[in-house]
Amino acid sequence: MRKFNLFVAVLFFTGLSSLQAQERIPLVEELLAKMTLEEKIGQLNLLTPGGGVATGAVVSQNVEAKIKAGQVGGLFGVASPEKMKVAQDFAVNDTRLKIPLLFGSDVIHGYKTTFPIPLGLAASWDLDLIEKTARIAAIEATADGINWNFSPMVDIARDPRWGRIAEGAGEDPYLGSAIAKAMVKGYQGNDLSLNNTMLATVKHIALYGASEGGRDYNSVDMSKVKMYNEYLPPYKAAVDAGVASIMTSFNDIDGVPASGNKWLLTNLLREQWGFNGFVVSDYTSVNEMIAHGLGDLQAVSALALNAGLDMDMVGEGFLTTLKKSLEEGKVTGDQITQACRRILEAKYKLGLFNDPYRYIDASRPAKDILNEEHRKVAREAAARSFVLFKNHNNILPLKKDIKIALVGPLANNKNNMLGTWAPTGDPQLSVPILEGLKSVAPKATIKYAKGANISDDPELAKNVNVFGPRIEIDERSPEEMLSEALSLANKSDIVVAVVGEATEMSGEAASRSDLSIPASQKKLIRALVATGKPVALVLMSGRPLTIPEELALPVSILQVWHPGVEAGNAVAEVLFGDYNPAGKLTATWPVNVGQIPIYHSMKNTGRPATTESFQKFQSNYLDAPNAPLLPFGYGLSYTQFEYTDPSIEKKEIGQGESVTITVSLKNTGNYDGEEVVQLYLRDVVRSITPPMRELKGFKKVFLKQGESKSVSITLTPDDLKFYNSQLDFVSEPGEFEVFIGTDSNATDKVTFTLK
Ligand code: NOJ
Repeated sequence: MRKFNLFVAVLFFTGLSSLQAQERIPLVEELLAKMTLEEKIGQLNLLTPGGGVATGAVVSQNVEAKIKAGQVGGLFGVASPEKMKVAQDFAVNDTRLKIPLLFGSDVIHGYKTTFPIPLGLAASWDLDLIEKTARIAAIEATADGINWNFSPMVDIARDPRWGRIAEGAGEDPYLGSAIAKAMVKGYQGNDLSLNNTMLATVKHIALYGASEGGRDYNSVDMSKVKMYNEYLPPYKAAVDAGVASIMTSFNDIDGVPASGNKWLLTNLLREQWGFNGFVVSDYTSVNEMIAHGLGDLQAVSALALNAGLDMDMVGEGFLTTLKKSLEEGKVTGDQITQACRRILEAKYKLGLFNDPYRYIDASRPAKDILNEEHRKVAREAAARSFVLFKNHNNILPLKKDIKIALVGPLANNKNNMLGTWAPTGDPQLSVPILEGLKSVAPKATIKYAKGANISDDPELAKNVNVFGPRIEIDERSPEEMLSEALSLANKSDIVVAVVGEATEMSGEAASRSDLSIPASQKKLIRALVATGKPVALVLMSGRPLTIPEELALPVSILQVWHPGVEAGNAVAEVLFGDYNPAGKLTATWPVNVGQIPIYHSMKNTGRPATTESFQKFQSNYLDAPNAPLLPFGYGLSYTQFEYTDPSIEKKEIGQGESVTITVSLKNTGNYDGEEVVQLYLRDVVRSITPPMRELKGFKKVFLKQGESKSVSITLTPDDLKFYNSQLDFVSEPGEFEVFIGTDSNATDKVTFTLK
């Protein structure tokens, strides 16, 4: 009874809306009642002590003293479980209330077992596999003491100049939402108090991927209708899946940076979506509002708390100014209590009040980290992420007893296999392509020559090599390297050239204005083709590149992203046909940078181009096509698939009804294989301009050689809905067209009417 009264009183005094009024946790409430103002503010402070994994420019100072003074709620980027143990000792032995710390980290595509970059993982269109990679990441990270992950990153990205396109699922909100859910489930499991599950953080809310010009951290300006329909769905999907925390983005939205944006953090997140976890800023993003032009540290910190931010990453604006702001009436005590409550509730859910050391178990790392089973999944995930762009003269798969000239700066290179967000991975444990080919095809003769530098530009190399040598400029001259590679090619049956981007040419603060393969490698590719030998390009990148010239060459191209720790084995498996590639692009590949942004769900405009050649007064370019180089959903297989007889269950449906579309799929080629059957919807007439088509369903199916299957995909009532001008989520009566096929250019069509 007493507890019930306390609960009601807390609700009354904090004036919480009914959505926020989730059930109180008695232990947390009792603790809050004992805490001083300073202790509450201390919980809102997240620090990174340095000496471990560096993910930003500033490193926190005097961390030990601050923990002991009760001024720290959590740490991230701590180097080892031993160091975490020491820090936790300070928190639970040396502070008045013994509140344990959270330990965060960026475990983006695997912990020590590094999986392919997220853009690659997404290309598998395999939600179970993606969930499994997140589960393994959580098992490994928690074995090393980490209980809070800064993943999944679900920012929709339609501008490949933006280096962080590598970190997410690509351009599409439907697929992005499905992947967001799968990852949250993988990290958090069903019970956060288990010692192998961790808090997930969906990031970066919001719209970070739409930064102007593809330049990282740049401004974003977008209509609400576009936000709600195209950019917000994956964050919402993560919230609906129960994500425990949310990280704000660096950009502004409607002129207010995300970390101080009340509409975003309170109206949308708490009131509309009912989110009841905690919100953490990105690295110093509270302080960065000073540079955005919103005032001094005290002003921006108060702005952030008032907006609904709970935890301040690295910048210490909350720690150093909130008390003063409270005294001056710029924030309220209830706001501080509420932010603190959310952080304590997260600690409670993790079970840290029962046992602050439950994630620090010396017996776990040896068995749970980088074990054989995890490496097997890494190999499988990598092979499934590859996308076959072209198979000239069907030279792939390769025979296992031929003479191969393995050429290229990425062909025998451990430093560039893991991908951009692998600060916890060890590049030296990765399998280079040369080693993988030799182990999968021991009877083949495989000789290696570098052939070219990733780039000959020392300035680019300097900018890229911040975390270690990624672009290494050889002591030999480019001519010498090229002639060695050509003489090897001339003595071989086939050339496999591994080319593309170094890992840190994509990722955070790695925007590019030119998306072509660097000149040094373009030259190598042309010279290899001129030998007349068959050439297979294995292309690595963290983003869509502009490769119209390479695609037009008589070569085969396998896109492998940055494949992770099992890179070489996975590439070899696919090149030699032990696995038939089935990946499909989740971001459109443009012809040139001028077409950007380009994505499959673009609108028709009032003056659509109706021919491929230029038309005056229509929407097109004088000097480039409207069509991309490679469409969303694109990817070939060593076998062929034939789609026939698309049909629809009903020609007319009512509001709230589902409808199923069926197509017959046959493997008509010479190999077993998988196909991602994709369904795109066009709402022909609506109250706001509809996209030409939008992905609304997919199914990945395996077919033996010669086998046929009938594949059905059901459209639910929500699939027909969109946010209208009033931001109501509605479906409007009228005609719908459904396209079903192998990519977003699918032409097989059925139609139905919604009454
Ligand atoms: C900045 C990045 O934007 C964010 O994604 C990351 O989680 C933090 N740094 C912490 O490393």
